[in-house]
Amino acid sequence: MKILVIGNGGREHALLWKLQQSPLVTQLFCAPGNGGTAEIAQNVDIPIHEIEKLKLWALDQKIDFTVVGPEIPLSLGIVDAFQKSKLSIFGVNQKAAQLESSKVFSKRLLQKYDLPTAQAQIFDSYSKASSYISQAAFPLVIKADGLAGGKGVRVCKNKVEAKKALKEIMEEKLLGDSGASVVIEEFLEGEEVSYLGLLDGKIFLPFPASQDHKRALDGDLGLNTGGMGAYSPVPWFDEVWQKKIQKIIMKPLLKAFKSEGISFRGILYIGLLISQGKPYVLEFNVRFGDPEAQVLLFRLKSDLLPVLQATAQSKLKGIQLEWDLRPSVCVVMVSGGYPQSYQTGYEIQGLEKVPQDPDVALFHAATVLRENKVLTQGGRVLNVVAKGKDFEEAVQKAYACVHHVQWPYVFFRKDIGARVCPSLKLRS
Ligand code: AMP
Ligand code: GLY
Repeated sequence: MKILVIGNGGREHALLWKLQQSPLVTQLFCAPGNGGTAEIAQNVDIPIHEIEKLKLWALDQKIDFTVVGPEIPLSLGIVDAFQKSKLSIFGVNQKAAQLESSKVFSKRLLQKYDLPTAQAQIFDSYSKASSYISQAAFPLVIKADGLAGGKGVRVCKNKVEAKKALKEIMEEKLLGDSGASVVIEEFLEGEEVSYLGLLDGKIFLPFPASQDHKRALDGDLGLNTGGMGAYSPVPWFDEVWQKKIQKIIMKPLLKAFKSEGISFRGILYIGLLISQGKPYVLEFNVRFGDPEAQVLLFRLKSDLLPVLQATAQSKLKGIQLEWDLRPSVCVVMVSGGYPQSYQTGYEIQGLEKVPQDPDVALFHAATVLRENKVLTQGGRVLNVVAKGKDFEEAVQKAYACVHHVQWPYVFFRKDIGARVCPSLKLRS
């Protein structure tokens, strides 16, 4: 089969790496791809938001199956457009994509169906939101309604911070139209879990839990990022928790989708927060997480392609996934300065020193190949993923590889996996 993956991050490199192992695959393409995807697929120079161009190219090339990585094409309706042209595609339709593309939409759904989530108010007027903040309790969280590439959520400790954030989002329009409405909600304290699974419209097939490291600096300090690292599984998130989530969240959520006419066939990513023993839905995403996909796909033993096809065709019944029980971790190497300003175009050295080990993978995120050199091209540059008999071994293997790879101003967190890795906790 000829497969097209849409996107250009570490998640898409991991998807291609996994799809490449399927005996069903004859040719792989990636639009637009990066320096790493170019090594296992043919990169296609079409941006992710050019839905019509992507569709015409897929028709012309007789692509058998397309897998969508990022949220932007999903929210622009790529799945609806491909299906109209009888192209098979994995991902949610535009209506279901609103769960991620509009925080107002998802909060209203959560409230209407009484799912556990932070108490919230919704505003489309700056002055009303501002007067609400004047009398609110702190800390609180302000969320821009629309997609903001991970920059739309502000945790505010006091009134001054909240007023500033609100002004930037709603008045100065720092995030453009994404900030036309906001959700202002209570701050919940607790442990976060990324809970992902395949949903074929009716049947939900959960993945093992994973956790990402959203903050830029060691010790969970600094600004929020797209993700500086991840690990899976989450040791304390056991069978009992899985069952609890099925009952408290998945069952009512699937009912809500049915009542609202949301046909959800794709990946559902629920950002969970466990506070005082209770699970809350912080957010929905309608795609694989990045870097959660890297640690999950590295542990998946089953062939990914038939499972994605079964999801798209509502045929998940009876399908089970097989997982490597060993833990995996992912360290994200970034351009110094990320998530704020940084320089790109540096040559990456030492890639050839990364050992050929089936328990280690190097996924490219923001890289480009130029005249046989691999150059940095964005904030999150490379992902080093490793598996081990325990977290200690996985973490050690990952960092051993990280230290082989260099470029000017490279930065990475030194404490990925520290929460589940006692020896690292001692060091940090
Ligand atoms: P979101 O995109 O909604 O998941 O928010 C991004 C990050 O902000 C989350 O992963 C949390 O770390 C934090 N966050 C969002 N909402 C809340 C909340 N109500 N209470 C505490 N932290 C939150
Ligand atoms: N790692 C968080 C996300 O993919 O949204």
